[in-house]
Amino acid sequence: MPELTYFPDEVLLQKADPVSEVSAEITTLSQQMLDVLHEAQGLGLAAPQVGRKLRLFVIDLPNDEPRTFINPEVIETSVEESLLEEGCLSIPGTFAGILRPAGVRVQARNADGKLFTVTAEGMLARVIQHELDHLNGVLFWDHLSPRKRERLQKKYRAPQSLES
Ligand code: NI
Repeated sequence: MPELTYFPDEVLLQKADPVSEVSAEITTLSQQMLDVLHEAQGLGLAAPQVGRKLRLFVIDLPNDEPRTFINPEVIETSVEESLLEEGCLSIPGTFAGILRPAGVRVQARNADGKLFTVTAEGMLARVIQHELDHLNGVLFWDHLSPRKRERLQKKYRAPQSLES
């Protein structure tokens, strides 16, 4: 089972590479990522969060089916924005209100390699945008003012450093 990576792991700060082919290995990885997501009781998980520099993420929201996004591309974002509190499995214990477009339309491949388009609003739109950021080395606190971000960063302790 892949293990979660935590800030400031390098892999979380890099731009991920496109998945060249939706191979059996990629299908297995996406299934394992859903397992890690469920165990951590999160809503979404991107490949860099399990140490893989790949453009792939999974989402599983209550009352919805699990979704896999491979090589996702944003087609459109709404002009309307919404402010919602975000957290991240790779920055445990840290939360902040983040302003983002309220809606987003994305094209991607699923775990079977099939191309699909989803037009999302609400929580799904929010989690898609958060996970997409992970593929570009962007974390939710990067959307805050430098001062707010610094305040959160100072308080944050990675789980490994808590143990030592
Ligand atoms: Ni995250």
